[in-house]
Amino acid sequence: MTPNLTRRGFCTAMAGASAALALPVSASSPMPLTARTAKAQIAPPQYAMTDVWSYDGKIPGSILRLPQGGRMTRRLVNELPVPTSIHWHGIRIDNAMDGVAGLTQDAVPSGEIFDYDFTTPDAGTYWYHAHTNSMEQVARGLAGPLIVEEQDPPDVDRDEVILFDDWLLNPETAQFAEPFNHPMMLSHAGHIGNLLGANGTFDPVLPARRHERLRLRLINAANARIFDLRLHGLSGWTVALDGMPLESPEPVDGAITLAPAQRVDLIVDVIADTGEEAGLLHLANDDSWQVLVRMPVTGKAAAHTRAAPVALPPNPRMEVPGLDAAQRLEMTMEGGAMRGIISASYQGRDMGGRELMQNGQFWALAGQVGMTETPFARLNMGETVRLKLINNTVFAHAMHLHGMHFRQVRANGSLGPMRDTILSLPNQPLEIAFVADNPGKWLLHCHMLAHAASGMNTWIEVA
Ligand code: C2O
Ligand code: CU
Repeated sequence: MTPNLTRRGFCTAMAGASAALALPVSASSPMPLTARTAKAQIAPPQYAMTDVWSYDGKIPGSILRLPQGGRMTRRLVNELPVPTSIHWHGIRIDNAMDGVAGLTQDAVPSGEIFDYDFTTPDAGTYWYHAHTNSMEQVARGLAGPLIVEEQDPPDVDRDEVILFDDWLLNPETAQFAEPFNHPMMLSHAGHIGNLLGANGTFDPVLPARRHERLRLRLINAANARIFDLRLHGLSGWTVALDGMPLESPEPVDGAITLAPAQRVDLIVDVIADTGEEAGLLHLANDDSWQVLVRMPVTGKAAAHTRAAPVALPPNPRMEVPGLDAAQRLEMTMEGGAMRGIISASYQGRDMGGRELMQNGQFWALAGQVGMTETPFARLNMGETVRLKLINNTVFAHAMHLHGMHFRQVRANGSLGPMRDTILSLPNQPLEIAFVADNPGKWLLHCHMLAHAASGMNTWIEVA
């Protein structure tokens, strides 16, 4: 294959001439998605712009939209000074396109490219983010929304994506506080920011009209923060979790918990009066509810609010049958501050807590610290599996399975909603079940990314 280096391709693909030679760009090349440095005004205007790592210079990356069953082709062009890769979080994807450096592909070196090409079986709200040293790369800004549209979208006036984040900035310089792998963060709740916001700003504003009906697609892209959210001047329903439609819309009453990497789709009606401000509140550290997303209400969309929405059309393969005969697995989570690890296996060797700490490792899953040669479990294609997660730490963990969604098996045996990321709380064992219907090597890890980087990272294999 001869690279067809057109002049236009040359200019748009890369500014640096030497690096551009490595990048064949032809008329048939996929659209580039360029990972590169940029500056962004994340902090209030009296602060400097922040040096970020971005997709196409934007924080967050552009909203990628495609229809259900559609095909996404994107060329990652790595203009960062470090290797990177992209994970398409929540897509029941072809394993080779999952973007996990070291498991499903090699990290893409600086100055090189990788073509992602996959289909999207499920409609819903997803996101994409770096999956090479993600603890640092996601914190620096490498994340964006990925929206897969239903053939028959719900009847709403507007569809809005709100990607939440928090940033840990040095308050003097408005630059990212370093290092990203401070042992304090690794061993405690993770990399928690000191500036909260959404859609790349500390003060997200979404103008609305009275009685307008909106679909809000909430995404938590923060490294470790759990958002507790509440509607203000809005009334609404949860219609999907982690992309997957609920059987019937559930009225929002009280707080919406959004753990790292989780998504919630809401359909809301603006009930605040014209001239008032609706929005989303979040539970701050001092236990007060504070405005996070402002929705100034101007004008009127309709005389009345509408009738309750109907459920979104279900996605394929949402059943988890065969629970009784299912293989049962158990995974104990241990480690972290206040508990520690007595002994666990790291890189093939048993180590005590102290030695692990010296290696920057603080957590274990099923007695293993971080990635292993052999998977935590090998599953047969099509089998149903039940996995008990036992949280023997004093911290919350957002456990995420790649490639497949699962359902919680509640204490009474009933199944919870289908998700790809579930919040595990200290001393509250929970069980999930899924059909191993996607072949390949799939990560199972904590989405508190500092935890994943210091031990809470394992994988399963489906064949
Ligand atoms: Cu969104 Cu392995 O991650
Ligand atoms: Cu964790």
